[in-house]
Amino acid sequence: MIFILFLLLSLVYIYLTWNFDYWTKRGVPSPKARVLLGDLPNGLLKTENVIYDIGKIYNNFKSKTPFVGMIQTRVPRLLILEPEVIKDVLIRKFNCFRYAELVEIVDTKLDPLFAKNPFLLMDEEWKEKRADITPAFTSNRLKVLYPIIQDLSAHMIKYIINESKKNEPLDSLEVAAKFTTDVVSNCIFGIDAESFTKEKPEIREMGKRILEPNFSNVVKLFLAESFPFMRKLMRIQFMPNDVKDFFVNLMQQALKHREEKKICREDFLDHIIQLRNKKNISELEMASHTMSFFSDGFETSSVAISHALYEIGNNTRVQDKLRDEINKNCNKSGLISYETLTELPYLDQVFHESLRLHPPAVMISKQCTEPTDLEFDGKRVTVEKGINVFIPILQVHCDSNYYFEPDKFYPERFDDGAIKDYLDRCVFMPFGAGPRICLGMRFALMQTKAAIAAIVQNFEISVNKKTQNNPLVIDPVAFINVKVGGLWLDFKSLKKE
Ligand code: HEM
Repeated sequence: MIFILFLLLSLVYIYLTWNFDYWTKRGVPSPKARVLLGDLPNGLLKTENVIYDIGKIYNNFKSKTPFVGMIQTRVPRLLILEPEVIKDVLIRKFNCFRYAELVEIVDTKLDPLFAKNPFLLMDEEWKEKRADITPAFTSNRLKVLYPIIQDLSAHMIKYIINESKKNEPLDSLEVAAKFTTDVVSNCIFGIDAESFTKEKPEIREMGKRILEPNFSNVVKLFLAESFPFMRKLMRIQFMPNDVKDFFVNLMQQALKHREEKKICREDFLDHIIQLRNKKNISELEMASHTMSFFSDGFETSSVAISHALYEIGNNTRVQDKLRDEINKNCNKSGLISYETLTELPYLDQVFHESLRLHPPAVMISKQCTEPTDLEFDGKRVTVEKGINVFIPILQVHCDSNYYFEPDKFYPERFDDGAIKDYLDRCVFMPFGAGPRICLGMRFALMQTKAAIAAIVQNFEISVNKKTQNNPLVIDPVAFINVKVGGLWLDFKSLKKE
């Protein structure tokens, strides 16, 4: 019996450590992996967000090598440190790194509302769906949506005024999430989610659950990433059925309302209706398109707004300078036009500086789809098909090799159009880069800047001590950059009652 147990344990050990010399055999520097934990212990332990494991490896190896081999549990991964090699992966050799591993993990039969999301598609289907959706974000369509966003900004301001009368701080992420829920619901479904007036608005509650990292999904995702053969067996369903039914129903109602009342509005729903008329797509497919907008757009944008407000609240000089720019550029009614909003240089710099320090997506991963060589400074690695390559956005954004005083919030570093240079060098990539660059970037910039401008124009913001800062810590289980304990702000109205 003991012998069988010993044999079994030995087999498990051999299985778990089989790949530990994968990178040394290929002459690629790598840390020393531990049984079950590999090089990314928090993939399993979750005491910290796994991005901090990646940060430690990044700091230990940067300036010594352009790439580091890592083991996640028992699966080899390649961490890219050198921006020129990042450029190879995202742009120059896009054909060899065409999609993310998640594409193979999400089961579109179980999660049909993710089935048309370009992020989760590959090859011809990705190209087709990306081309289908791209026209929804033209300047003309964004301009049509802008007054709706202005209107919803006014609701947000009213809400903050009322709430701040209670002399309690507000969680900036909650305020921002209410705003983006209202914007996205209105721009997609033509429906007012009433997040600022209802006690528990249903769309907001359902929206929260789309990508909620519940225990079961965190465990399943860990198993799917660590033991790829289990993917098919596990049947991970990310979106609960009641959430799926809610959004399908919402889309059906929105469609019925629009057709019965003969409403004509050049928004996202209108674009999807045109797509249906042209390509004869089903209602479920239409719902899936609208869901892409909702799932990709609302959480990333609210996280971005909340961090920008936090940094502005922490920095009076920036806040005053930004308010000055906004006040000088609004009309007599205090409103800023779409064209002006998109062109305000300091607002642009402040927002991008906040995205630099707090990118909503802290990392992107790409799967090697064709074997290829990556090479820099005489060092070379042959990447085999199926290997996942990690791009550590957060670490590159905070690297002193590329940024002077990288931990400092200093929007002036982007003076005189310098952002383009950082983007070109792939040392600034909050929206990714290359053919898969964020599809909703222009929409995201419009809604986030509109919210920030409206708040800075109306309130003096300061960080409340309820915020557990120094340093801010990323939630151990969150899929995106959400901070532990929230970002709590005080808002003092600047308008005389
Ligand atoms: C500040 C807000 C946002 C940030 C920081 C952000 C960031 C990103 C990043 C890093 C990627 C991955 C790029 C890659 O894999 O190379 C991405 C992809 C994507 N984003 Fe965004 N995003 C934001 C808002 C939005 C919005 C508002 C929408 C839709 C309305 C959207 C739709 C998408 C889609 C569809 C993709 C997949 C593109 C593809 O694979 O072809 N995003 N985004």
